Amino acid sequence: MSALKLTDPEIAEAIRLEKEREELKLGLIASENFVSEAVREAAGSVMTNKYAEGYPGKRYYGGCEYVDIAEELAISRAKELFRVDAVNVQPHSGCQANMAVYFSVLNPGDTILAMDLKHGGHISHGSPVSFSGKLYRTVNYGVTRDTHRIDFNQVRDMTKKHRPKLIIAGASSYPRAIDFRPFREIADEVGAMLMADIAHPVGLVAAGLHPSPVPWAEFVTATTHKTMRGPRGGIIMCKEEFAPSINNHIFPGMQGGPLMHIIAAKAVAFKEALTPEFTQYQKQVIDNAQALAQEIANHGFDLVSGGTDNHLILIDLTNRKITGKDALDALGMAGIVLNKNIVPFDPRPPAITSGIRIGTPAVTTRGMKEEQMKIIAGFINQVLHDINNIGKMNRIKNEVREFCQEFPVYLERLVRE
Ligand SMILES: Cc1ncc(COP(=O)(O)O)c(C=O)c1O
Repeated sequence: MSALKLTDPEIAEAIRLEKEREELKLGLIASENFVSEAVREAAGSVMTNKYAEGYPGKRYYGGCEYVDIAEELAISRAKELFRVDAVNVQPHSGCQANMAVYFSVLNPGDTILAMDLKHGGHISHGSPVSFSGKLYRTVNYGVTRDTHRIDFNQVRDMTKKHRPKLIIAGASSYPRAIDFRPFREIADEVGAMLMADIAHPVGLVAAGLHPSPVPWAEFVTATTHKTMRGPRGGIIMCKEEFAPSINNHIFPGMQGGPLMHIIAAKAVAFKEALTPEFTQYQKQVIDNAQALAQEIANHGFDLVSGGTDNHLILIDLTNRKITGKDALDALGMAGIVLNKNIVPFDPRPPAITSGIRIGTPAVTTRGMKEEQMKIIAGFINQVLHDINNIGKMNRIKNEVREFCQEFPVYLERLVRE
């Protein structure tokens, strides 16, 4: 019997059920993925025991010689992967990475220009519900009504009008590649700094399949758990001249000890990302997203921007009787897990929405390809055409379960345990 089962059967059981859920339901949440066994092993390692306030070679505690190896490897691998001068691998999350950049360049009351949450932006980019919106004055740009692509005329107009100190390029639900160069050019027109938040496409950037913001932005933040397929966490990349300030704002500015087990797991994920297999994986993520988008469109659904360049798709239900919430609930009953999402110019409120967001990173990790995207589109189509038919939902749920069992994530391990 495992130590966990012996000590805490309730938590052991919750974890077992979560494993079963991950195996037997179809996870299409664009910001989720499945880490490798190697990443899990590092994340669950004894490095969780170690206090290591400070940075490699400059710690406040003794006994840091081995965690230093892990952090140095994480930093050097991230530098190689993203071809960047300096990296801080300590942020516990994407929001915290953004916070450190803000703290290092902004004063309370300063203006930031960021993508409107309603058009695909993120709460940590100045939403009133986040610390960022409470501390800073936020103005927004969005996408155009006809193409759903970033409206660079608006970015320029808003920049000239409001003269933000920081411009943020990056989004949570934008299905197109982001060109960072025009952001740089516009920022330079008023002497603003540029932060690119690539939390979502970071794995595609690492694989060279999405434009890199590194040549254009003073700061690049990212999460390590989405397309990057590492442990839950954040990183900050920047030019060397900004590194001391970023480092000081992470520690001692906003945290004590770093999560050394997670930093070790980040190092493992970066090593994996430097392999040709990772590039192939990211290519398949995009191929799958495009195949799925095409199939969903073939079933008659509208897609925000008409398709995708990256790992995510937004189905636009504005012209349908069902809402994003209805779709989420019905698909959930059928074992298909995704999120409702506001779409650009959405007439419905955020708690209801007119959209659902679908991502392919997790299903691609389980080995699914274009052929399976056809089947997934078929499931989604069947559910959304008949959301009140409970019998049908139960039938599809069983089909989804069988389908998922053909593409196990950690199943062999589950059975062994
Ligand atoms: C663009 C963007 N930035 C930041 C974050 C925040 O990451 P975390 O949940 O790790 O704080 C997200 C997460 O969804 C995101 O999409």
